[in-house]
Order: sequence, then C-alpha cells, then structure tokens
Amino acid sequence: MASNRKVMVLAGDGIGQEVMHANMQVMEWLAKHRSLGFDVSEGLVGGVAYEAHGVPLTDETLADSIASDAVLFGAVGNPKYDDLPFELKPERGLLALRKELDLFANLRPALVFEPLVEASTLKPEVISGLDILILRELCGGVYFAEPRGIDELGDGQKKGYDTNAYTTSEIERIGRVGLDLARKRDGRLTSVEKANVMLSGVLWREVMTALHKAEGEGVALSHMYADNCAMQLVRNPKQFDVIVTDNLFGDLLSDCAAMLTGSLGMLPSASLGAPDPETNLPRAMYEPVHGSAPDIAGKNLANPLAQLLSFAMMLRYSFDQPEEADLVENAVSDALATGKRTADIMSKDAQAVGTDQMTQAVIDSMDRLAR
Ligand code: IPM
Ligand code: MG
Repeated sequence: MASNRKVMVLAGDGIGQEVMHANMQVMEWLAKHRSLGFDVSEGLVGGVAYEAHGVPLTDETLADSIASDAVLFGAVGNPKYDDLPFELKPERGLLALRKELDLFANLRPALVFEPLVEASTLKPEVISGLDILILRELCGGVYFAEPRGIDELGDGQKKGYDTNAYTTSEIERIGRVGLDLARKRDGRLTSVEKANVMLSGVLWREVMTALHKAEGEGVALSHMYADNCAMQLVRNPKQFDVIVTDNLFGDLLSDCAAMLTGSLGMLPSASLGAPDPETNLPRAMYEPVHGSAPDIAGKNLANPLAQLLSFAMMLRYSFDQPEEADLVENAVSDALATGKRTADIMSKDAQAVGTDQMTQAVIDSMDRLAR
C-alpha cells in the first residue's frame, strides 16, 4: 500500500529472515484492518549482503536506509564468516548503519509479561512486574573510538587494542535522552560506568552530574559502577527505572536484562538519532536485541516476539501511532496468556509452538482485541 511511511526492511541473516516474515504479517494486518500502510523497501545486510555483493552493506542500501523514515532490522551474523577480514564481517553492516545514521540513543526496555514470570531463571518475586529501560549509547566508546588495531611488535608478538573514549558532548546528548525518558517514567535515572578504574568513566560521571544539575529537574540521578549494576540486575532488578550507560556496558547489561524477562527472544530495541530537519522524525532503526541464532535458523523455532515488539516501538516513536503500538504489545501479551510458547520461553504446562504458530497467535489476538 502506498503511504508516506517509508520503511527500509533489512531482515539479515539466520532467524532474522523468519522473525521479519512474522513482522510483515503483522504489517499486512494493520494495512488491511487499520488502513495503516507502509511503503516498504527491502535490502540485504550482513552475511546475505556479503554473499550477493561481497560487502555486508552496500552504499546503495545505506543510502536507501538514510532516505527512509525508519529501518526495520532483523539480525546478522554466522560463525561461518569468522575468518573473513574484520571489515567484511556481517556485524560491520549493522555497526555501519548505527554509525552512519548517527543512532546514538539505543532504548532497550526490559518488561516482564506476567504469563512469562515462570519462564525466567530468576525467582518470580524478583521479576514479577518488572519494567526497566536500559539506555545504551550506541555511536561511541570502544565500538568506534580510535586508535584501534592489531600491531606487529617485531618480536613474534602482536598487540591488539581498542580505545574507550567519550567527549563531553557525546555524554551530554545521551544523558539528555536519559533525563527525558526518566521524566516520562518513574523519574529515576541510574548512570553506569567504571569511574573507579577508567578515565572515560570519570568524565562520564562528571558530565552526567553537571547535566543533571543544569537540566535534571524532576529526575533523581544516581551513579553505579557497571560491575555492581550487573550484580544488582540479577539481585533486585526492580530497584531500577532508567539505566543510562556507554556502548559496551550497555551491550552487556542489556543481555543480562533480557534474561530477566525470560529470554533474549523477548527484548526489543529502538535506536534513535536526532530529528530530521525536514520531517521532524528521529532517524531510527528498530531491531530485536537477540542475534541471528544460526543453530536454530530455518527450523521454525525462533521466537518472533522481540521483532514484533520492536515493530511496536517503530509505530510509537517513528509514526506516532500509539494505539496500534498498544495493540501489538497487548496482542503479544494476550498470545502468551493463551499458553503458546516458543522453545526459548517454554515452561511447564505450556504448549510448545513454532515461529509460525506464535505469529498466528499474535494475529489472532489482534483480531480479538480489535473487535
Ligand atoms: C547487540 C549486538 C551487537 C552489538 C552485535 C551483533 C554487533 O550484540 O545489538 O547488542 O554488539 O552491539
Ligand atoms: Mg549485544
């Protein structure tokens, strides 16, 4: 359906294909039942792009992504590319998109759906009702800062190194998003670094403190070391509201937070940049936090829910369709309440289903809830 909502779909590798297929079915439902159409272009990223074009992301796909209103992303990666030169690995396609679109604010909400309380490896009382948000800086730090390299030392040894660096303005811009998000939620922001050992962490804490003093009205800011935060996330995750942290710590802590919700297959994310001056929409990409899971790819085993929840975030943040976003999220919850489960969230007395059936359960719930 023609529309002015331009979406670039990049399914990528492995289960990215299957979960994106699920996503397209939900998009079709919205076009049919809500007249909410999307102007969809599809492109290749990751290993599939390498197979077709010899690179994990072509300039053309990048340009199309920049020209779209939002990118919907599946997953990339496969161990069969482990021996490729670093710049050609599937992950480089994803990282290039994040960097080139300047998507510095990565929102990873960890929300426990009540029917899944039993699916978590943690005790029900620790995670029941959990609703926290990890805000990960996505364009800086050790993922991109220079210098980085592997040097020959001349004595038969090599030295591999990366740099973790943040400037004042990089910290301020992610800090501001953190304050905004906290203000819209429970008003608590925890800034996470390792100021006890890293100078980039010392600056991070300094800048966050100053920013909070200048612009933090209505928000309670606290600071925590990253190792302690990892421990607190499994000890008592409900103490948190919004966690703001750097690229690497955000990567680690969000995987940890995902398991609180039962499975990595449940965690969506939105990566946002500055608003486009013409459309006033933020540059944006939506992707599940899970990877391409090559071991289960193509077997109808993947959990499509993180992808569908990422799509709901797209409806909310890029297209200002809160009702439809609520509908998708409620349908996910409702489908789980029917007792259907993919393998990753299976629990006693539940009904094991595949990707297709789980998707169908969500669509059936949309039918029911929309009535
Ligand atoms: C994530 C992933 C990526 C990352 C990989 C696939 C490059 O783990 O989005 O969390 O490290 O950022
Ligand atoms: Mg990760």
